[in-house]
Amino acid sequence: MTEMTGNTAIARPAHEAAERSFVRLSRFQRGQHLAMLVSFLVLAITGIPMRFPQVHWLGGIYAAVGGLPVARAIHRVAALVMIADGAVHLVYLGALLVRRRFRLWEAWPMLPTWKDAQDWWATSLYYFGIRRELPAYDRFNFREKFDYFAVFWGLPVMMISGLILWFPVFFGNHLPDIAIPMAYIAHSDEAILAISAIVVWHFYNVHYNPDKFPMSWVWITGRISEEEIRREHPLEYERLRKVAADRDATPTEADASTAPGGAAADRRTI
Ligand code: HEM
Ligand code: HEM
Repeated sequence: MTEMTGNTAIARPAHEAAERSFVRLSRFQRGQHLAMLVSFLVLAITGIPMRFPQVHWLGGIYAAVGGLPVARAIHRVAALVMIADGAVHLVYLGALLVRRRFRLWEAWPMLPTWKDAQDWWATSLYYFGIRRELPAYDRFNFREKFDYFAVFWGLPVMMISGLILWFPVFFGNHLPDIAIPMAYIAHSDEAILAISAIVVWHFYNVHYNPDKFPMSWVWITGRISEEEIRREHPLEYERLRKVAADRDATPTEADASTAPGGAAADRRTI
């Protein structure tokens, strides 16, 4: 019997068959998520009272941290953490691409495909009661990809507008007059959009959804059960089984180098 780690596996006694679990996010990926999570929450908590100064009780947040200047400083420190996290992720994406010899879709399984558009359509039909079953998703479904790209395009918007607000004299001297009011509106509105997306969309997917409630622990443990991977990512599950069947054996560490994408891509960190 085997404990499978994404696309890798470690031999286990047969009586532990019921406990099989799969690595969904590597330790490094979880680290990136944690830095994003913490910096995002701190930025939101310290930014919202600036956005709504007329809401009296929000001022309590500033009182709690030691005043507005402290809150502004905390906002800037958290912003640096988020920017650093984004930079680390870009280097990580580059490393995956090189390791996968520039085979784009293997290196970056989050990239949208034509199948995602078809899945979106089939899923919509299912929710309208026209289709009987959900489509079979692969390692990342279209919702998860959307979630990822929301952060991917949101971060540059927040970073560029935030840096303009941070250094208004410098940017005021180098950019057209309209840049500062534009940065203010972009930062303020994108913050509301991002917070709403996380609270409504992401928290539903990983938290309020009755299948997940009280919470999906993947962001902490990095693992999902065999039942979960079969139900939610059946195509990935089938691929893992096929790799094992082709070798007429249980999957091993070596399979990680051949199976496309995902946590196995940086298996040394698993
Ligand atoms: C990523 C880099 C970011 C940088 C460099 C940055 C920087 C700034 C700066 C300089 C201000 C002006 C207020 C002040 O002078 O202290 C500000 C305001 C604000 N920030 Fe950020 N921030 C960033 C990310 C975020 C994120 C991710 C959020 C929300 C999730 C956020 C929410 C806000 C809000 C709501 C305001 C108040 C805007 C208003 O008054 O309408 N910021 N930020
Ligand atoms: C307490 C807060 C949060 C919890 C409990 C949480 C939990 C999770 C979990 C369990 C996953 C893995 C889902 C899976 O693939 O099976 C995940 C993925 C992800 N999270 Fe979070 N998360 C939180 C906050 C955030 C924040 C603040 C951001 C970004 C600003 C974020 C961005 C992402 C992204 C991009 C993914 C990958 C795409 C996806 O699977 O949806 N998360 N999160």
